[in-house]
Amino acid sequence: MSRKTLILGLETSCDDTSAAVVLNGRTVLSNVVSSQDSFHLRFGGVVPEIASRHHLEIINPVIDEALSKAGVAFRDLDGIAVSYGPGLVGSLLVGVSVAKALAFSLELPLAAVNHLEGHIYANFLTGATISFPLLCLVVSGGHTSLLYMEGHGQIEILGRTRDDAAGEVFDKVARALGLGFPGGPVIDKLAQQGEAAAFSFPRALMGEEGKLDFSFSGVKTAVLNCIRRETEKGGQVRTADLAAAFQEAVVEVLVEKSLMAARQRGMTRQFLLAGGVAANGELRRKLRQKLESVNMELIHPPVELCTDNGAMIAAAGYYYLRQGRRASWDLNAVPNLELEGA
Ligand code: KG4
Ligand code: ZN
Repeated sequence: MSRKTLILGLETSCDDTSAAVVLNGRTVLSNVVSSQDSFHLRFGGVVPEIASRHHLEIINPVIDEALSKAGVAFRDLDGIAVSYGPGLVGSLLVGVSVAKALAFSLELPLAAVNHLEGHIYANFLTGATISFPLLCLVVSGGHTSLLYMEGHGQIEILGRTRDDAAGEVFDKVARALGLGFPGGPVIDKLAQQGEAAAFSFPRALMGEEGKLDFSFSGVKTAVLNCIRRETEKGGQVRTADLAAAFQEAVVEVLVEKSLMAARQRGMTRQFLLAGGVAANGELRRKLRQKLESVNMELIHPPVELCTDNGAMIAAAGYYYLRQGRRASWDLNAVPNLELEGA
C-alpha cells in the first residue's frame, strides 16, 4: 500500500448505514452515518426486515456523500473495508455485497472486519498514541467483553457476558420506563438528575477474584420488577432515581471487572473503552478515576465514534490490509461471528 492510504469503510451490521473515508488508519476525512432510529422507535427495538430494506435504499447515497465530504473519488481509494459480522444477517449482507462489488470493479483489496474489532479501532482515531499490550472493554448493544490485545489482530478474550449485553439491558430498562429507543443515551442523561441510593439493584458475579465474565439478566429483572411494583403502588414512578440506581449497578460491575482484569494480567499502560455504551458519562468517569489510581490511562472514542460507524471499520481495515489480511471474493455475512482469540 502507498504511504498515503485511503480506505473506504462500510458499516451496516444493525440499523445504522455508514460510510467513511479514513487516511492511514488514523485520520477521519469523512464519516457519514444515516440513523434509522426514527423508523424503529415505535417498535421499541430494531426490526431486522425494515433495517435491511433501509440499508439497501440509502447505502449508495451514503457512500457518495462520504466520498464528496472527503474530497476524494473512487479512483483515489486504496482499499475497501466492511463489517461482515456479528450482526443482523440481512443488514450485514447489504454492506458485504456493496463492498465486494466495489472492490472487484475498482480492483482494490477488500478487508473483512469483525464488527467488535472495529469498535476497538475507533480508539485509533482519537489521536492518542496507542501502545500494546493493552486491555480493552467492548460494551455494545450485543456484546460485553473484556479483551487483552498483544498487537494488531492478537486478541485474547478474558471475559464476556453469559446472558444479556450491557447496552441491551439499557435498552430494555428504558423501554419499560417508556423512554424510547435506543435507551442508553436517555438513561445516561436522566440518571444525572436521579438519586442512585434510592434503590438497590444486584451486582452479579462480583467478589470472585479472577472471574471476568459478566451477567446482566439479574439486574434487568430486578429493575423491571421494581418498575412493576412502583406502578402498582400508583402515583409517580421515580424514573430518574430508577435510572440512576440501575446505571450505577451496571457501571460498578463493568469498572470492577476491568480493574480485576488489570490486576490479573499485570497492569498494561493503557485501557481502551469501546462500543455504544462507551459513550456513557458515568462509566467513563468512574473507570477513569479507578484506572488513574493504578497509573493506567483510559482512552475512549468521542461519542460519535462509540456507536456504529464506518470510520472504525476503515481504521481496522487499514491494519488488516497492512498485515495482508485480505478477504476473498467468496466473503459472506456471518451473523454469529466470534472474536478470534489469539
Ligand atoms: O455499538 P453500538 O452502536 O451497536 C452494537 O454494536 O450493538 O451500541 C448500541 C448500544 C445501545 O444498546 C445503546 O443503548 C447503547 O449502545 N448506548 C449507551 C449510550 N449511548 C449508546 N448506553 C449507555 N449510555 C450511553 N450514553
Ligand atoms: Zn456496534
